[in-house]
Amino acid sequence: MQTERFVDIIHKKREGGELSDDEIKGMITDYVSGNIPDYQMSAMLMAIFFQGMSDREMTTLTLVMRDSGECVDLSVIDGVKVDKHSTGGVGDKTTLIVGPIVAACGIPVAKMSGRGLGFTGGTYDKLESIPGYRVELTDEEFFAAVKECGISLVGQSGEMAPADKLIYALRDVTATVESIPLIASSIMSKKLAAGADKIVLDVTVGNGAFMKDIETATELAKRMVAIGNGAGRETVAMITDMNEPLGYAIGNNIEVIEAVDVLKGRGPEDLKEVCFALAGMMISLGSGEGSSSEELKNKLSYDEGVALAKEKISSGEAYEKFLQLVKNQGGDTTYIEDTDKFEKAKHSLELKAESAGYLSFIDTEGFGMGAGMLGAGRAKKEDSIDYSAGMIMRKKIGDKVEVGDVIATMYAADESKLALAKEFLSDKYRITTEKPEKIKLIYDVIRQS
Ligand code: URA
Repeated sequence: MQTERFVDIIHKKREGGELSDDEIKGMITDYVSGNIPDYQMSAMLMAIFFQGMSDREMTTLTLVMRDSGECVDLSVIDGVKVDKHSTGGVGDKTTLIVGPIVAACGIPVAKMSGRGLGFTGGTYDKLESIPGYRVELTDEEFFAAVKECGISLVGQSGEMAPADKLIYALRDVTATVESIPLIASSIMSKKLAAGADKIVLDVTVGNGAFMKDIETATELAKRMVAIGNGAGRETVAMITDMNEPLGYAIGNNIEVIEAVDVLKGRGPEDLKEVCFALAGMMISLGSGEGSSSEELKNKLSYDEGVALAKEKISSGEAYEKFLQLVKNQGGDTTYIEDTDKFEKAKHSLELKAESAGYLSFIDTEGFGMGAGMLGAGRAKKEDSIDYSAGMIMRKKIGDKVEVGDVIATMYAADESKLALAKEFLSDKYRITTEKPEKIKLIYDVIRQS
């Protein structure tokens, strides 16, 4: 317990002062142990929201939050372990595709993913929609799975970064989520605790992401890259677009089906482009010195990584790796071999265009919320998910639309949910007579400067 009164530390931050490492350590330790009440921590979070944090303060906060719980030791697994993290989006099923591609190159993938919350989906829920797939493994089972299969995709350990869990819950109810130092330290504390040697961050930007504009996304990316590299883990961020859902499917088992499509060499172009970029970067980081793969003993450039990622899809090796992963974690692979076997929603309804022109705007967050209303997501942590619910977009931004064309097909277990979602989504897209400019998918790559 620190000797300085916490009210004085709040005052210091409120006035724009820089907190010392001891003050930050004391704050987190005392909050986790219950010696700082929520009302004082809330005031501190609001002071940080308005005053920001220096790089040193933010790095200290990240490391103290990382050390508040279990840190996974991946040194028992040979080779360079590369992790990937997305700051969240709608229709983002990239982990299901990128993981097997990278593992098929011989780079071990030991990845923990979270559940979806609010308008964003979570890889945990998508994996759980595969019948039999065990998302929860013990540490020993997790390590054994990576050694045996080269890849394991599991849920995030409840013991990791408990300080972040407490603070995130408080931020959620005190309007202090959208703060760059708080987001950066929250994400990086968990990534560093997850133990990978190198990290690729997918920082999404747009109306379906936390960061709504390129400037803020770039600032967040730079700060996370600085934290990762400062902690001795090579970290690269890619800034990717989230101004429309990625691919066509938004939901859980329908997203798995779309991911399998890509693994089989088909699938939507935008999803493929983002996956090849992320996988290419992971392959480049995982190649060279220390790599456990013969194919990757020489360092590959990003472009060479992208080319290899494409090869792993066209050769079928990434698809085979996904089958192995599902089998290894207890999942029924017949669902992957024949995706028609996945449970289908009882009811569906089409959202149809009422005017002609070009689809020029999608409120992506709105469509994510719409999928949640259909049963694909949760409003509260305790809510259960309907794995077959969600929607399939039938148009992309820039597509020509005639009156009556289907914009999206919605799926749900009961018709009242479909009617509510249809009403909710009716003003969440725009059709104009002018064709909009094509959306760029990868805006920038941020490395250590
Ligand atoms: N994801 C996190 O884990 N933390 C944040 O603060 C925002 C997104």
